[in-house]
Amino acid sequence: MDKIVIEGGLPLEGEIKISGAKNGALPIIAATLLCPGTHIIHNVPDLRDIRTILQLMETFGITWEKADTNTLAINSDNVSSFEASYDLVKTMRASVLVLGPLLARLGQARVSLPGGCAIGARPIDFHMQGLQKLGAQLELEQGYVDAKVNGTLRGNAVYFDIPSVTGTENILMAAVLAEGETVIKNAAREPEIANLIDMLTRMGAKIEGRNTDRLVVRGVKKLVPAEIEIIPDRIETGTFLVAVGAAGGDVNLTNCDPALLPSLFDKLRNTGLYLKEDKNSIRVIRSGPLKSVDIKTMPYPGFPTDLQAQMMALMTLTEGLSVIHENIFENRFMHVAELKRMGADIRVDGGRAIVKGHGKLNGAQVMATDLRASASLVIAGLAAQGITEVSRVYHLDRGYDDIVGKLSAVGAKIWREKE
Ligand code: EPZ
Repeated sequence: MDKIVIEGGLPLEGEIKISGAKNGALPIIAATLLCPGTHIIHNVPDLRDIRTILQLMETFGITWEKADTNTLAINSDNVSSFEASYDLVKTMRASVLVLGPLLARLGQARVSLPGGCAIGARPIDFHMQGLQKLGAQLELEQGYVDAKVNGTLRGNAVYFDIPSVTGTENILMAAVLAEGETVIKNAAREPEIANLIDMLTRMGAKIEGRNTDRLVVRGVKKLVPAEIEIIPDRIETGTFLVAVGAAGGDVNLTNCDPALLPSLFDKLRNTGLYLKEDKNSIRVIRSGPLKSVDIKTMPYPGFPTDLQAQMMALMTLTEGLSVIHENIFENRFMHVAELKRMGADIRVDGGRAIVKGHGKLNGAQVMATDLRASASLVIAGLAAQGITEVSRVYHLDRGYDDIVGKLSAVGAKIWREKE
């Protein structure tokens, strides 16, 4: 296993090109199961999770090739198998996204239950209830969801208690080939869902309500292969904005979309960062002292839970008090113990963390526990005095395309070593 070593205290200066969104690419790759032909997907990030879903897709009979550095050509002429095995699904929960398209294409799917992960139990009951509403029979046995439908799926009303991102995506992909109309209420509104809707629409699907919490799908008989560009990764963008806040400096982020982060900019300006947005770039400068802010994670367009850990690292560097409410996942404070090893003063009380900033952190050996927690430890290391070593960086490789290279290019002293 690798570790990342950081010599902190250096400001970041220069330009970082943002990659395509992991959580945009995963459902769009799954959607290529819906119809035969060759689909072209641009701006695909080079990540462990992308390699995992492509490996999973190959087991169904999909073939793919890199048509360019970040462009995939995916051929789904011969989709014959429909089993997503535990050994692949346990490494990436988003594998559950193949359930809807396999049912829509083949009328059958056998997908391992993903199991929990560091940040929570992560059940998929909303996915299963929604597919049952569309006429699928689902049985749980030996840790697998056995799903089948006699004939085709049939449109229906599906309501989500919580606006589930992949739940909305799964039901959308099942509904596009169902007979009749499906209405999804309390749908998630993350921009990655609009990216998927654009792909499905280009494939011939009939979907109304893009970017709203009420999606109406009129099933069609046939779809055709399509071409799409993955939207910029808003969480990678936010991660680097926070990194400049922590390390100080002046960085220009390119190939990004400021409109995808409506709730972050005010927060960061209130902490003392200077932000200048253009159509697909953001200039971020931090030269003065940091001020503490409070955070409440909420479904989009609220503050993203995927940026909570990164903001917590930033708040430890203020001289104030910050209250952070994690409202989406029940256990997303695994980074707290590691930040405390670096001298942070944080008290967790249920879904709330109270951060008392002391203006600095000290380098230490810390351990990554999940994808975004590992990003928060890298951010802390950039600001800390001395050397920080982050172990288990395979978590980071799941969701960040060359974070070490991108940070080194703007002056960070950061490198990988064999553990
Ligand atoms: C997606 O996960 C993202 N993953 C997560 O990003 C992100 O943190 C999350 O949405 C919230 O924004 C992908 O898009 C691949 P949810 P997802 O269903 O869809 C509960 C990252 O770092 N729930 O919106 O799994 C659930 O437990 C990852 O890139 C049920 O109870 O999240 C949670 O409390 C981490 N039953 C809440 O809903 C269900 O059937 C929201 O979860 C589904 C979800």
